[in-house]
Amino acid sequence: MSDKRFVLTNPDDQSSVELPLISGSVGPSAVDIGALYKKHGIFTYDPGFVSTASCSSAITYIDGEQGILLYRGYPVEQLAEKSSFLEVTYLLLKGELPTKPELESFTHTIQYHTMIKETLKYFFRGFHHDAHPMSMLSSVVSSLSAFYHDTTDIYDPVDRDMFAWRIIAKMPTIAAAAYKHNIGQPFIYPRNDLDYCSNLLHMFFSVPAEPYQIDPVAAEALDLLFILHADHEQNASTSTVRLAGSSGTNPYAAIAAGISALWGPAHGGANEAVLEMLAEIGSVKEIDKYIARAKDKNDSFRLMGFGHRVYKNYDPRAKIIRQMCHKVLEKLGKQDDPLLELALRLEEIALKDDYFVEKKLYPNVDFYSGIIYKALGIPTNMFTVMFAIARSVGWVAHWQEMLSDPAMRIGRPRQVYTGAPHRDYQPISKR
Ligand code: SDX
Repeated sequence: MSDKRFVLTNPDDQSSVELPLISGSVGPSAVDIGALYKKHGIFTYDPGFVSTASCSSAITYIDGEQGILLYRGYPVEQLAEKSSFLEVTYLLLKGELPTKPELESFTHTIQYHTMIKETLKYFFRGFHHDAHPMSMLSSVVSSLSAFYHDTTDIYDPVDRDMFAWRIIAKMPTIAAAAYKHNIGQPFIYPRNDLDYCSNLLHMFFSVPAEPYQIDPVAAEALDLLFILHADHEQNASTSTVRLAGSSGTNPYAAIAAGISALWGPAHGGANEAVLEMLAEIGSVKEIDKYIARAKDKNDSFRLMGFGHRVYKNYDPRAKIIRQMCHKVLEKLGKQDDPLLELALRLEEIALKDDYFVEKKLYPNVDFYSGIIYKALGIPTNMFTVMFAIARSVGWVAHWQEMLSDPAMRIGRPRQVYTGAPHRDYQPISKR
């Protein structure tokens, strides 16, 4: 806490209201308004939390103007090039890159928690075969709280670690089970001899009837996508996990709440919506019509995968995924995918249009990711599930950071009331 003060003038009586200024290690400072209501009987107002810091955190830093994203201080570009998803997972959870023995031990721990309770498989039978996999994921993850209630003392760091390992390890297994349920194939058990992403491909695409050859290009592409989706400071789903977790609820239930928040097309659901949008646009010659619709205030159509609450520059993750598209599609022999061609042309036209330039609307992480998922054989309705697998790491890291803070208290925002003032009940005969 600095000794600098932010001074507000109360218009009612011209009195000065001095508020402390809080500075972090890098990035904007914040005015500490915690005592404002108690001392001055006034709230602050910030729907959508555009200018509100809900907490302090040491996990991820974003500079939206410069297009900078740091995980525990390391640029995401360096981690994407040199690290692996499980190493980044360790970094986000523990705050430091692991030594070789630490990474080997952590990898072994995650591998040995990938199986789910056998009875959990029967939960899927309650869903119709065409249930959206995000609905199955949030339901089944929430049901984990019924299996591990004896090891979820959220105030015990040992239990907090066990929860972290279990949820991160089991997300791919549950995701694959949802996919297999959709396509009517038998569930495939995880294998402890495979790395995280190869295991996911194995559980998604192998069948008991014949051997399945894991494509290392696909596993490497998934690993990179998961690194890029692992965390993103106080986004809607992470804030949901923090708020749910602040009540002391079962951590699996808090993660299920985060999955539900991520599902929305304004958030993680955008990657699925981008592919649907590209399919609707259909061809390059239709682009101008859809750009016009995106600019039309009377048309609810938005360019999915474009714009961001924080990035007012190119999303650094989108830049990496865009480059990755060419490399992965070429390695998979799908370099002339018409969807990529359409997406590239759409971006080129939009970024020259004054509307997008003035509003600083650039492609975000969701604009290109679906093109790679599709090339890997993952169906569109599973794209947000893939996002959730990776983001479970960020959700857990923020939940742990919040729970290990002795000053943690339940989140309970206030409001500006606009409803009817006091009035007395009238009998129906007088209405
Ligand atoms: C993710 O928060 C995170 O960090 C999220 C995320 C993460 O890793 O967790 O990065 C992942 O969710 C990425 C965003 C995915 N969503 C989409 O791609 C959906 C399309 N984008 C928009 O709906 C929108 O840009 C948001 C939701 C992403 C951001 O919304 P904001 O910050 O509330 O901005 P806004 O809606 O107020 O838009 C500002 C202006 C508006 O015009 P005006 O009212 O000022 O005239 O820009 C316009 C909007 O109409 N606008 C768009 C647009 N996005 C914003 N116009 C056309 N197409 C778009 N995509």
